[in-house]
Amino acid sequence: MPSIPDWIPVISVGNAKLDEQHITLLELGRQLVRLLDAHPCDSKPVRDLLQDIINQSAQHNALEESILKRNACPTLREHQAIHQVSLSKLQALLQDIGAGKGDARALSQVIVDWMSHHIFEHDLPSKAYMKDPLEANDS
Ligand SMILES: [Fe+2]
Ligand SMILES: [Fe+2]
Repeated sequence: MPSIPDWIPVISVGNAKLDEQHITLLELGRQLVRLLDAHPCDSKPVRDLLQDIINQSAQHNALEESILKRNACPTLREHQAIHQVSLSKLQALLQDIGAGKGDARALSQVIVDWMSHHIFEHDLPSKAYMKDPLEANDS
């Protein structure tokens, strides 16, 4: 099973709050993959942690999109669509688990894939538009 990358300064998006959320999401993802090694997919710890990841991702997406919007990011629409697809996938997995159709391996794979792509392929290309507009005005 491939692993979730560590956060290192080179993957900073140049915004302290968004970086902090990325660090938290990567850590939660690692926790979930570890949990899935030891607990069945439909166990309470797995469901609770997946729900937490969904909630924190939704908050993160909303903040990131608002910053991209204020910075007039030209790929905002595409970025929003990617966020929506990722979140829907996680929500569908949680529903599957609730319906007794959870698959620990598939869930781990989705989490690892999503965490790997999120920052490297979707956020870093828009780094120029991730700066906090309020901070940018101060300097
Ligand atoms: Fe993003
Ligand atoms: Fe992000």
